[in-house]
Amino acid sequence: MKGLSLPNPRWLKTTLWVALSMPLLWLGVLIIKELQQTNSGLGTEPTEALLHYLGEWSLILVLLAFAVSPLRRRLGWPWLGQHRRFIGLFAFIYVCLHVLTYAGLYAQFQLAVLLDDFVYRSYITAGIGAFLALLLMALTSTRGWRRRLKENWRRLHRLIYVATFFAIVHLLWLRKDSGLAEAIYLLIYIGLVAERIVYHWQRRRSA
Ligand code: HEM
Repeated sequence: MKGLSLPNPRWLKTTLWVALSMPLLWLGVLIIKELQQTNSGLGTEPTEALLHYLGEWSLILVLLAFAVSPLRRRLGWPWLGQHRRFIGLFAFIYVCLHVLTYAGLYAQFQLAVLLDDFVYRSYITAGIGAFLALLLMALTSTRGWRRRLKENWRRLHRLIYVATFFAIVHLLWLRKDSGLAEAIYLLIYIGLVAERIVYHWQRRRSA
């Protein structure tokens, strides 16, 4: 497996595009079913179902973006690094849809509800922390910003640590009765942080 290199980056990008769009496509199908017949696509609590579906996929894609560097290094997949921005932007789109569902359908765009949740619901505060970190990264992900910020660009994009940390905290705080799924997300997160620590330690030792 190590050293696997794929010859056609355009083909790879299309595959990634299709794969990352699949959950949204499926969501589209569920929404159409729901519109045709109530409770058939999204169940008895459509807003909750939407929030949970998009939340789950946001977390998976944020962790996937965080996994790009470790996978590239450990599996010898240099081509994966070229798609980091693409995966990150997809993750951001899912998070935006999740946040929009919350703000629009759940809080009905009522500023008082939004502010109240932000202050008194710790898992919302953590979610917003993750969202803001991803927003800054998405806004500065262009070549122009990379050129303008030079070395600081790398520093700024360490915000992925903040985003993933708050995303995990958001999940653990909102699911008080954490089970196997939460334990798996947490283990993946810890594994990805540990890989980075080991990598930097090895680099410093060999320098
Ligand atoms: C990177 C950012 C975020 C990620 C990865 C994320 C992920 C998730 C996940 C995995 C869930 C649980 C879904 C389930 O129970 O099946 C969830 C639920 C939720 N999220 Fe987020 N979220 C993020 C940001 C936010 C933000 C910014 C807000 C609000 C401003 C928010 C509001 C909510 C709400 C209201 C729920 C449902 C809580 C409930 O079940 O009562 N999330 N989110």
